[in-house]
Amino acid sequence: MKKKIAASFLGAKNAGRALKTLNVTDIDYIHVDVMDGKYVKHKTMPFSELSTITYYTEKRLDVHLMVIKPLKWIDKLASLNVDCISVHLDIKDDIEKVIERCKLYGIKIGIALNPEQDISLVYPYLDKIHKVLIMSVNPGKSGQDFILESINKVNTLRKEIEKRKLKTLIEIDGGVNFLNIKDLTNADIIVSGSTILKSDNFQDTIAKLRKCVSK
Ligand code: DX5
Ligand code: ZN
Repeated sequence: MKKKIAASFLGAKNAGRALKTLNVTDIDYIHVDVMDGKYVKHKTMPFSELSTITYYTEKRLDVHLMVIKPLKWIDKLASLNVDCISVHLDIKDDIEKVIERCKLYGIKIGIALNPEQDISLVYPYLDKIHKVLIMSVNPGKSGQDFILESINKVNTLRKEIEKRKLKTLIEIDGGVNFLNIKDLTNADIIVSGSTILKSDNFQDTIAKLRKCVSK
């Protein structure tokens, strides 16, 4: 599969403006980070505001739910242009129910793994989900340093997926920059927040990131 890039606007000073600018690039997805102030310390905007700012983009949304109760979010998100929703493993809702609910809405489902969680924790779900989101920073904020061990996780997971002849995708999220992206060739979807947002020209940066990861 052609590598895809998803842009996270979590660290943007003006989310609406960032989305407008990203809309005229060739970015594959908008990565929407949702935080409830419980799963992680910070809390992001309520759904009403989120749905309003998504008017600024025609890109498909790649939602990352850092919340303890994702089911009620999934019901609301189903009205937006959502391609995939990723949830964490250590949540209060039943994960099987979450998988079922996404499938009911025709939304792809991903399971996200934190840096301290072993990759084998997702193995029982690999044939039931569309992708695994490997966190390469601790969830909570953008602009953190990439945790190097995440590269091994991506490579180990790739081997497992190949061994079982599955089509499950691998997404990597957090701290991606021009140096570490070269080691992420086994990932299918790369999330980038600050590397894109802090650059002067979003399209140039996206093109450069794409070039680095396809080598
Ligand atoms: C962290 C978020 C990431 C983050 C990515 O909790 O899940 O999506 O915003 O931003 P950068 O690329 O700046 O780490
Ligand atoms: Zn994220």
